[in-house]
Amino acid sequence: MTEREPVGVIGVGWVGLVTAACFAELGHRVIARDILPEKVAALSRGETTIHEPGLEDLLRRNAERITFTTEMGELLDGARLLFVCVDTPPTYSGDADLSRVRAVVEELPEGSDHVLIMKSTVPAGTGESIRRDLPGLAYVSCPEFLKEGTAVEDFMHPDRVVVGADPGDEAAADAVAGLYEPLPGEILRTDVASAEMIKLASNAFLATKISFINEIANVCEEVGADVGEVARGMGLDQRIGSSFLRAGIGYGGSCFPKDVSALKMLAGNTGYHFQLLTAVIEVNELQKRRVVGKLEKHLGSLLGKRIALLGLAFKANTDDMREASSLVLAARLQGEGAEVVAYDPVAAGRAAELLESVEMADSAQAALDGADAAVIVTEWPEFAELDWKEAAGRMARPLLVDGRNFLDPAVVQAAGFEYEGIGRTVGAPSPAGG
Ligand code: UDX
Repeated sequence: MTEREPVGVIGVGWVGLVTAACFAELGHRVIARDILPEKVAALSRGETTIHEPGLEDLLRRNAERITFTTEMGELLDGARLLFVCVDTPPTYSGDADLSRVRAVVEELPEGSDHVLIMKSTVPAGTGESIRRDLPGLAYVSCPEFLKEGTAVEDFMHPDRVVVGADPGDEAAADAVAGLYEPLPGEILRTDVASAEMIKLASNAFLATKISFINEIANVCEEVGADVGEVARGMGLDQRIGSSFLRAGIGYGGSCFPKDVSALKMLAGNTGYHFQLLTAVIEVNELQKRRVVGKLEKHLGSLLGKRIALLGLAFKANTDDMREASSLVLAARLQGEGAEVVAYDPVAAGRAAELLESVEMADSAQAALDGADAAVIVTEWPEFAELDWKEAAGRMARPLLVDGRNFLDPAVVQAAGFEYEGIGRTVGAPSPAGG
């Protein structure tokens, strides 16, 4: 493999670690810096700090090409191209918290030949203000579009790579675009503000699609239609497309909730009221709570009822609990006086810290023991394989609310369950189902 330019990564969270591992796989030497000494120590020992399919293999295979460090000096000495991958969580006001980005910028030397490449999601205008503070430094916006659970695959097979740079930084943008040249997918060159907006607008649009289909699902329940069929029919129209039309209990995760809110606030701060996003957020909040009404429809008051949550992570194939719908749902159920027990094959550890009063079970069947109802919160593949007949026998009442429309209603009904999906009209169980 030809000698490739070293790459620096600042902030080794989900995005940073995947970026580091993938550039190493592409043949680059990578120096990755994080301020948390225990994280750097764990990664240096060869431990993978997050659950992300394929990542452990990449890190193991490329261990000799990646150095983890807490020292900014080591990073600056070893690499010219510096990817900023620190998190930008929401503040109380809904704006993005840029304090970690700012802290990184303050550590960078002025007037060096380093290129600051912003992967962290930042409000449009951030690049311009950083360039004002550090006029000697080249600045490129290169937003990430990685989905947790398929992040390695997404990095290696991007739909597109966006490289935003303003006049004067063309050479830096060429260097960044060059890094991605071995990969398929179009490289879109644009200005910094547009690159920043592409990221926010993409996530806001996808969140809008989800809230839209969730509202359609709610109407389907009223009129006796099936949202799965409706989404299939809509998705065949190429102008609409079939992805992100799965109705459920609302979107969560580290990006959608925060980016939708950040875009709404960004617009608001300029005096523009982004009405559509206000509704998208509200629909999502209400959707997380609809399961409570579905349980009450069958059980009446939830006071003293034992409810089993199957899955807690914000989606399958991740242990990420950020903005997971399970957090709101568990709190609402407990607010109604229910006893909540939960099982998640991967996120239980992280979840236990956030859901102190929820009982954590070691298996799905153990969670269902004596339960008055079960709710599928995360579409973990093992729930499709579960012995639902055994489950029905263990429960005080075999009632299932499938928050992801993940199971075949006929199968669980045949096992003896009452079944409720989201926007799915399901007939009564066949007598043979027993
Ligand atoms: C998202 C974006 O997809 C990615 O491009 C961005 O860079 C980071 O944020 P991620 O947060 O990993 O990725 O999750 P994603 O797979 O996009 O799902 C987000 C949420 O929407 C999840 O809670 C998921 O369950 C939900 N969802 C998704 C639905 O409810 N219905 C759908 O049809 C799709």
